[in-house]
Order: sequence, then C-alpha cells, then structure tokens
Amino acid sequence: MKKDFISIKDLTEKEITDIFALTSLLKKNKARFNKVLAGKTLALIFQKPSNRTRVSFEVGMYQLGGNSIYLAPHEINLGVRESIKDAAMTLSRYVDAIVLRTFAHKDILEMAKYAAVPVINGLTDLLHPCQAMADIYTLKEKLKNIKGKVLSYMGDGNNVCNSLLYACARSGLNIRVAAPEGFAPDKTVFKEAAAIAKSNKVSLNLFSDPCQAASGADVIYTDVWTSMGQEKESKERKKIFKDFQVNKELIKLAKKDVLIMHCLPAHRGEEITDEVIESKNSVIFDQAENRMHAQKAILIKLLKK
Ligand code: CP
Ligand code: NVA
Repeated sequence: MKKDFISIKDLTEKEITDIFALTSLLKKNKARFNKVLAGKTLALIFQKPSNRTRVSFEVGMYQLGGNSIYLAPHEINLGVRESIKDAAMTLSRYVDAIVLRTFAHKDILEMAKYAAVPVINGLTDLLHPCQAMADIYTLKEKLKNIKGKVLSYMGDGNNVCNSLLYACARSGLNIRVAAPEGFAPDKTVFKEAAAIAKSNKVSLNLFSDPCQAASGADVIYTDVWTSMGQEKESKERKKIFKDFQVNKELIKLAKKDVLIMHCLPAHRGEEITDEVIESKNSVIFDQAENRMHAQKAILIKLLKK
C-alpha cells in the first residue's frame, strides 16, 4: 500500500530515527544517491507562496536523479477548475509523488485519499511536518542527545507549532508553548501530542508569560505572527503578540548556549530581532539547509521500493 507523509503523528519514533539516519548519509555523501530516484517525477502543487519548501524539494529531487514539476495556484486551481479528487486521480497517472501546500487540512486528506501515489504535506493551515522534521534533525546535530532538553516556542500556536508538538513528543524533547490568549495550538493536536508525550515521559506545557516559558530553555523557537492567508489580521496581530518577541532580553532568561530557531520567512523586527537572527546562538539557516536533506530522505523512504 502507498504511504503518505501528512503528519508526524502518523510516524513511530523508529520511523523518525530511520529518516534521520538516512538524512545524515545524504548530507555527507551527495554523490552516492544521485541516481536513486532516476525516472521518478514529483508534482509540487502550491496554493500559497514558498521559497524553502519549493526550492528544497525541487533541488533535492534533482540531486536524487529525479524530476519535478511545479504547479502554481492558478494552474491546477484545486477545487475550482476541477475537484481535488479528479486532480489526484489524474496526477497519479503521470507522477510518482505529490507535494501539496494548501490552506484547509481536509484538502490534503482528500488528495491523499484519492491519489494512488504518496502525498507529502508541504504545509497546511494546521501542520508543517517537513519543517518539524528538519528542526528536530538540526537539534540532534547541534545537541547530540535531545532527550530531556527544553524547547520553548514563542508566539502563535500555528501550523509550525502544531507539528513541533508532535515532533517533540515523539522525539523525547520537552516543549513549552507561550502564546497570547486565543492563540494556543490546535486543541486536538495538543491533546494527541500530550498523549504521545505522556507515553514518552516528555512534558508539554502551555504558558501565557513568555519570560516564564523562556526560563532555563535549551532552545527558543519562533515563527511569524501573521501566517499566509491571515494578512488582513496583520495590524491587530502585531499588537496582540508584541510581548512575545524573541529579543536579547528574552534570550538572557534561557541557558547561556541556547539555540535560536525560526522556520523562516521571518519578519525581522516583529517576532524576532535582527540581532538575535544574526547571533552566534542562531541555527536558523542550518534549519533551512536541513529541509533539503531531510526531505530527500523522506522522498527515498516513500518512493524507493
Ligand atoms: N519554512 C518554509 O516552509 O518556508 P517557505 O514558506 O519559504 O517554503
Ligand atoms: N506559519 C507560517 C509558516 C511559513 C513557513 C505560515 O503558515 O505562513
């Protein structure tokens, strides 16, 4: 049966570890894998803009000997020009896998249901699992043993935060989320991640005070206050989130060698200052690089028989 990559919730800890082991091999020895997906084609359907996700998948597929086709919002025009079901059934006759970046999470579930080929989540309003995989991989590179360490996420309980909750719970990393009232992570995701965390002896906590959440943290993570699709709320959100900025003062509360993370794109001067992005504690561009290595591993796991 074909396998999809929609949520980290669906992966076992062993599957995650296996993806990371392959990620390390791919990162160390690019040439060894340059034909492994020869003859395979990946469709990238993007209903929202992208730099990292699109480019890392396209370059990654090329480096594995395969090919990719980028389909911008106006091309397939999912659900408008044709139904998701018809698009899924048609594309499955041409390509070997589909990456979908879209709004409603139910749309990717629909795509996965009707596609005969693996569907990879390139971000929905609910989740961003490829990002969280690269993030945990980056932390393993930097910290070696991540078990029992504390990651504090500041700001909007959005798609990136939701996927981090699953990823931390599965990987043995304690996670604190500091969010203003009304902007906590998705309730169902939180409940499911809490259950995973409990069985893994990991703690998962919500805070309203960013300083309390940052205290003694090994990692501080943030993302934009206004996600794609929420642009109209931007002015209001700047006011609501202003105390959640990751700046020099907040970082002083964490461990001295705290790692600073951001999935990018960043709105410098809003959720994070220039100074912090450029600081020696920042691993932000390593995260961005690791998107490609981790996604190449995911592609091989899904496509190589
Ligand atoms: N982090 C991330 O997914 O970036 P893009 O939106 O540029 O793909
Ligand atoms: N939360 C952001 C992540 C971008 C990678 C968004 O959805 O726009």
